[in-house]
Amino acid sequence: MALDAHRIPEEPYYRPVAGEVALFEAAYAARMPMMLKGPTGCGKTRFIEHMAWRLGRPLVTVACHEDMTASDLVGRFLLDPGGTVWHDGPLTQAVRHGAICYLDEIVEARQDTTVVIHPLTDARRILPLEKRNELVQAHPDFQLVISYNPGYQSVLKDLKESTKQRFAAIEFGYPDAAVEAEIVAHESGVAAGTAALLVRIAASSRNLKGHGLQEGVSTRMLIHAGRLAAQGIALETACRIALVLPITDDADVRDAFSAAVSAAIA
Ligand SMILES: Nc1ncnc2c1ncn2[C@@H]1O[C@H](COP(=O)(O)OP(=O)(O)OP(=O)(O)O)[C@@H](O)[C@H]1O
Ligand SMILES: [Mg+2]
Repeated sequence: MALDAHRIPEEPYYRPVAGEVALFEAAYAARMPMMLKGPTGCGKTRFIEHMAWRLGRPLVTVACHEDMTASDLVGRFLLDPGGTVWHDGPLTQAVRHGAICYLDEIVEARQDTTVVIHPLTDARRILPLEKRNELVQAHPDFQLVISYNPGYQSVLKDLKESTKQRFAAIEFGYPDAAVEAEIVAHESGVAAGTAALLVRIAASSRNLKGHGLQEGVSTRMLIHAGRLAAQGIALETACRIALVLPITDDADVRDAFSAAVSAAIA
């Protein structure tokens, strides 16, 4: 079967934080285009993997970037030994065969690329393949989902209003301390007490956001620190290499954060 490689065989671990699972199920039932909003490393990708598994749909993920063209999404003619043959791009595959298509970091794509999704995200649910002179009617199970990190936009890099307004949004953030600790313990293998300590360290970095740090430490970074600790690396060292060093190059901010880490561990 087409897209078999995109099926998710086992349940991806996802710890619900608020009502997002039920919200997404309702959105999928309505085949509503969805936007997952939130800072880096807070669980958006894991969530969509979990939802695709839960809904029994294949998941086609596209990492968007500046040089991406509409052809990279919809497909192109390629020269084969037998002549030129059309190859569906990932979006077209998802549209034809009823997958969830996840366009990760959609703002990275140029606006003239993103407009190809417009006819798919209104009542028409069609994808025009101009080069092939074909109109693909979306499979009834198809859904379009994008991720969007509200922190990083500049005027030059933002979604067109007419793109934004085609989506309903679910907001993600770092969960409550107890829930985040549960996630960190599960994903890294550290004991509950260590996970809770890592989450307290994250809180101190999140307070530095806007005061030298562009973003606080993400759940993903805490899992990195936890994995190193679970391998036997001393917790302070694990925090230094997984949290402090990657997050800033500013020596003063680094010192402030290091001091907060040491104080929390002592
Ligand atoms: N609610 C959650 N349940 C289970 N795991 C989670 C949850 N939130 C975060 N994680 C963990 O954090 C890691 C990072 O999350 P993920 O890759 O989904 O972030 P993201 O929001 O997609 O980030 P980015 O915007 O950088 O792509 C995951 O691999 C997972 O281990
Ligand atoms: Mg992601």
